[in-house]
Amino acid sequence: METVFRYISMPILPQINPQFSLSNMHPSNYRMRLFFDLLRIFVLPSVVFYLITTQLIKMNINLLMTPPSYFVFIICWLISKSFLTRILQRAERQKLGAKRIPCIRGAWPGNVDVLLKMLRAFKTSYILDVYLQLFEEYQCTTLNTRILWTDHIITMDQEHIKFVLSTGFEHFWRGRWQKERMERFLGQGIFNRDDEMWRMVSEIHDKCQRSAFTDTIVTQKNQHRGNTRPFFARERISDFDIFERYTAQTLNIISSPSSHSVGKTPIDVQDLYSRFALDAASEFLFGQNLDTLSATLPVAGKTKMGPKGSATEDPWGSFASSFEMAQQVITARSRVGYFWPVFELFRDKNALNAEVVHQWLDPLVRCALGEKEKMKKAGICSPVAEKNFLQHLAESTDDPIIIRDQLLSLLLAARDTTACLLTFVTYFMAIYPDVTKRLRAEVLEHCGAAGSITYEQLRNLKYMRAVINETLRLYPPVPLNVRESRAGGCSLPPSDPTFKADYNANMMDHDPRPLHMPGSTAITFLPLLAQRNKELWGSDADVFDPDRWLEGERLSRFVANPMMFTPFSAGPRICLGQNYAYNEASFFLVRLLQQFDTFSLAPEVQPDGSLPPPQWKHKKGRQAEEKIWPAAALTLFVKGGLWVRVAREAH
Ligand code: HEM
Repeated sequence: METVFRYISMPILPQINPQFSLSNMHPSNYRMRLFFDLLRIFVLPSVVFYLITTQLIKMNINLLMTPPSYFVFIICWLISKSFLTRILQRAERQKLGAKRIPCIRGAWPGNVDVLLKMLRAFKTSYILDVYLQLFEEYQCTTLNTRILWTDHIITMDQEHIKFVLSTGFEHFWRGRWQKERMERFLGQGIFNRDDEMWRMVSEIHDKCQRSAFTDTIVTQKNQHRGNTRPFFARERISDFDIFERYTAQTLNIISSPSSHSVGKTPIDVQDLYSRFALDAASEFLFGQNLDTLSATLPVAGKTKMGPKGSATEDPWGSFASSFEMAQQVITARSRVGYFWPVFELFRDKNALNAEVVHQWLDPLVRCALGEKEKMKKAGICSPVAEKNFLQHLAESTDDPIIIRDQLLSLLLAARDTTACLLTFVTYFMAIYPDVTKRLRAEVLEHCGAAGSITYEQLRNLKYMRAVINETLRLYPPVPLNVRESRAGGCSLPPSDPTFKADYNANMMDHDPRPLHMPGSTAITFLPLLAQRNKELWGSDADVFDPDRWLEGERLSRFVANPMMFTPFSAGPRICLGQNYAYNEASFFLVRLLQQFDTFSLAPEVQPDGSLPPPQWKHKKGRQAEEKIWPAAALTLFVKGGLWVRVAREAH
């Protein structure tokens, strides 16, 4: 009976119920999953129909009529299932004292028109605007898109984001859908695992940054946490030697007369910052420099557009291209939704990308495991404090695949996010010279024009911190994210005040009940929209104004409600590299501003198709002013790269 109940409660195009026996299938077996789902959708009703007609009511169906009869039966079956799902959900809602999340009502069955509109909009419209339009149309901050009769919740509601990430953490997980999309690329990495596996990996990362809540869910298996040197502990991340080396190399590239004559030849800083972030992180985490800063650089006006930014034609270029393409493929899969395996039946689009990326990482893994073996044979045991992240991983497992998957996730975490932050700070410095001037004055006042930089000096750079926060607010490097509710629904807390004033004024909604989040349902949350929400941030929410982080009264909004700013996520899965990233970005900007004072955009060398379409000028908010095209594929980036001229006029 319970199985029947579970079967019924699965949507027509089923969301994978974690308790359904097939859900234990490995997430990489997407073809098999699709096969079983098709069996369930088409074959099971057909068999039931056959048995009913031939065995139960002994009906002799005219052969010509058979296919249409089966077809009609399958449709009736699906409609009944949908109907039963609704009844079950209503019962759950009543039990929870909750109301239904408003549903989008498209013009075509299954909201197919909404799906097509979204797919078109992702290619041409402003970042996440398609979602914002829906929220405005329905006057609410949380909606059910119900595309192809499958519940999919989207939310820009700060209270609901807080619940998913933090206060209701136990009701959600990354879920099977997401794992299926990411498995080939990220495998068992920290971004693609839940529960035991996640805890095992996160334990190696850091114990200091985890909240008390996480510590309470750490299992016995993880009790040697206390012995592990925390990787992101303050003394480790404020050792600036590594930042110093790679910052110097990056600034040399900017000022090198052989590659770019300073201030004259534009450079793609997004590409450069990605290399900087990757080389620094690889040394910090693995003790080895991938040395991507030494590889071929993109050339202004000649370099073509890659999956995200510039594409260079050398071995590093092929790594970067595969790394970025893999993220694009994952994003495209999530846009297509449930049906993505249909388009990859004969070719896993990430197979080749993953292979190229693995070829770069496998030697690192072999080396770490070899070292471990050698040390073991020689009876040497290096102190825990001297081990890097890779060595710790190699200590905890001999499985090269697990080690490689963790390295890959860490590279993704460290490279694209930090590069994104630095890219958008540079963008703002280019379009707001006053900000650059003020930043530079602060740097020179507290750090001088050269010399070593200390942690305390960075802490005193209040305006710089404000610029970084304001950049993260308007352009969070992870602008949207997805979780799945665990089996068994829950209720979301009351919505934030965004549309409340309108509701009350129009007497439209006086129902104070919380919203019902159905079980095993995906929820896409949108920090970028929450962080630009005028109701939370004031009428100037779209304006870049670092002073909002410095002026007591305006800052008090955030102090009273810190969850309205979540660029590093929140709750037990909050970013582990947050302080590392703040230090790295601040350090880099100090050195950059000590040497340079003028940044100007070079739209004439942006690759074709990477500049904002002219019609954006007639839109509202940031979109109207945008000089670049922000886009997202797991992380935020500037389409075609950010080409700027960097100069030192004051010298
Ligand atoms: C500006 C820079 C950064 C931003 C905005 C950022 C943002 C985020 C966000 C939003 C998440 C949550 C992802 C999710 O739950 O799906 C996350 C997780 C994570 N980040 Fe960062 N990150 C940054 C830099 C870094 C760096 C430099 C590292 C490491 C060197 C790092 C390591 C991690 C790790 C390991 C996790 C996974 C935590 C977990 O699932 O338990 N991040 N980051």
